[in-house]
Amino acid sequence: MTDRPMPLSRRDILATLGAAAGAASLWPGAVPAAAVELPLSSRELWDWVRAQPVLQTGITYLDTASTGPALRTALVAEYRSREAINLNFGEYSRAWLSPAAVTQFVQRVAAFAGTETDEMTFTTGATESLNLVANGLPLEPGDEIVVTTHEHAAHLHAWLLQARRRCIVVRQIAMPAPLGDPVQILEAFTAAITPRTRVLAMSHVQYSDGTVLPVRELCELARSHGIVSVVDGAQAFGMLNFAIRDLGCDFYAASLAKWLNGGLGLGLLYVRREWLDQLWPLTADGPAGWNEGGSFGLADPADAELRSGWPAALRKLGTNYRSFVPLFQGLSVAFDLQERIGRARIEARIRELAIYAQLKLQEIPGLSLVTPIHPSLWAGIVSFTIRGQALKPLASALAEKESTVIRHVAHSSIGFEALRVAAHIYNSHDDIDRLLFGVKQHLA
Ligand SMILES: Cc1ncc(COP(=O)(O)O)c(C=O)c1O
Repeated sequence: MTDRPMPLSRRDILATLGAAAGAASLWPGAVPAAAVELPLSSRELWDWVRAQPVLQTGITYLDTASTGPALRTALVAEYRSREAINLNFGEYSRAWLSPAAVTQFVQRVAAFAGTETDEMTFTTGATESLNLVANGLPLEPGDEIVVTTHEHAAHLHAWLLQARRRCIVVRQIAMPAPLGDPVQILEAFTAAITPRTRVLAMSHVQYSDGTVLPVRELCELARSHGIVSVVDGAQAFGMLNFAIRDLGCDFYAASLAKWLNGGLGLGLLYVRREWLDQLWPLTADGPAGWNEGGSFGLADPADAELRSGWPAALRKLGTNYRSFVPLFQGLSVAFDLQERIGRARIEARIRELAIYAQLKLQEIPGLSLVTPIHPSLWAGIVSFTIRGQALKPLASALAEKESTVIRHVAHSSIGFEALRVAAHIYNSHDDIDRLLFGVKQHLA
């Protein structure tokens, strides 16, 4: 396979921009659509895909779980949108934020995510989405939230902040280790439920060791006890082929800057319709969706009219929407690329690279995978330790001497430490081989 990204042709850029324009044709600044044909053979396709994100030549980037490089065409689309806004601010607020344009875009996202249009809102990332939920749920002192010891700080601390402020209780359950079966996780959550439990909060894919949690079963468990389920999908959205509605969760938070490659600064939040009335917004710039008919009639009537036709969750929770519009142009491009390649094919390719990494890494003496091996418990993230080897210096040496980027992950409170490999469709088997070479060099 080729080592270097192929240059992106003007035709590629125009074609992908055109597809974005088709998705949001009410937005000015978009380029007219043109057909783009993807390479037919897998080999050619993955070579072509390799050239789509902005990746530095000569770097072996295996850290999509931290940040996914944006697609070049997404950045171009975003730029074109910002340019168009600056050329005509009036048109921007009249047309781009009109109920028709906004609804059309949200429908597109909802269709990709597998939710209803009224259940989707946008944030700056999974962090904000999770904080919105933790901050906005009506909780009383003494109410309990159950999370695992492997939650990302952005998720855990969203609850810890509320624990400090509202005297709720955060109960962290230890993930069974080694984890051999999804039933073990279900048992651990079940055992942690008390009459005061209000929320089960979990990762879809754990950022630390790549465990895929049995989210559907956990959400069902929560529902059967009348408990709210909150899923942190930062490491799953764009990696796995699923529809949020099939998980049966009440809230789903996703990052669009990791496995979707839509560019930094965007996240989404799914809010089950029945929770929308009870969830407080994080920010308010008027009464839309939460205080309509209230006594302070200070909202600009034109703004109120504009927002009145927006989809329900966005109307109530999406006060940032207007500043996201350029990013949405990039996001449309990212959705389009995933849909044209096919989400199932993307997941299969990611899994193929992950299993190759698992097999190759195990050639290294003293290396142990901490990612579970049960087929339903792993996906695109592979984490490992090496007996007697300081892991952080190894990650630094790989970056500095071998130009290979993987991530050192540690939770001091539970003594967890590992190196994490996260290969996406723009990676190749050669990248894994280079990682192996680098690790072996360091250990020699
Ligand atoms: C599991 C998990 N949750 C939340 C986040 C935060 O995501 P964002 O950067 O979109 O706020 C991350 C980022 O790495 C993550 O891995």
